[in-house]
Amino acid sequence: MDGNGRWAKSRGLPRLAGHTEGIESVRTVVTECARLGIGHLTLYAFSYENWARPADEIAALMQLLTEYLRAEKQELLDNNITLGAFGDISRLPEHAQTALSEVSEATSELTGMRLNLALNYGGRQEILRAAVRIAQGHGQGALDLSTLDEKVFSTYLDSFGQPDPDLLIRTSGEMRLSNFLLWQIAYTEIYVTDVLWPDFREEQLHEAIAEYQGRTRRFGRLD
Ligand code: FPP
Repeated sequence: MDGNGRWAKSRGLPRLAGHTEGIESVRTVVTECARLGIGHLTLYAFSYENWARPADEIAALMQLLTEYLRAEKQELLDNNITLGAFGDISRLPEHAQTALSEVSEATSELTGMRLNLALNYGGRQEILRAAVRIAQGHGQGALDLSTLDEKVFSTYLDSFGQPDPDLLIRTSGEMRLSNFLLWQIAYTEIYVTDVLWPDFREEQLHEAIAEYQGRTRRFGRLD
């Protein structure tokens, strides 16, 4: 969800105004994805590397996250959306952790779209955490390394039980993966748009999906 800062700067507004407007895009995109019948949506809300931002921006983002969760709980319930998190959320402020666990518990039995918020998330860190747990499991005799294949490895990832993404959308024109779902996106289709995240709404989502629908996916095979 890149481009909040540039959106604000181009209007002479503080960066926080871009994040606040970005929340409106989050609301719209989440609801529209659920309406379209998309099974899983993962939003990269706060990366492991984002801790290097100024403390006041980090605090404001965490506050926005908590406010979003409190305000959207009913909307998620009404749309049959189940909430989860990717990343090590133990480093988030207490208020954000509490709001996250409240909403994930309240929505845990729902059967519709799964919404994952990637928070304090990094793909390399996720893979490393998996490797450590695998080594611990092996050390304790609970895991036979000869059975370790891609399928077993992926059960140690935050995305356990969920399919690999079909489509990755990156806003604001940056041609980078920025440590996002590095394991899971091996064969994901990538769509980059110049649109800044606060301007990414239903129409832009439909354009991305329409372009995806025109792609041929070969997964390394011939047509
Ligand atoms: C990137 O834009 C955006 C972020 C680092 C934060 C995204 C977070 C939100 C939209 C709010 C919280 C999320 C949820 C799910 C409630 P940038 O600041 O890097 O923009 P720039 O590259 O133009 O400076």
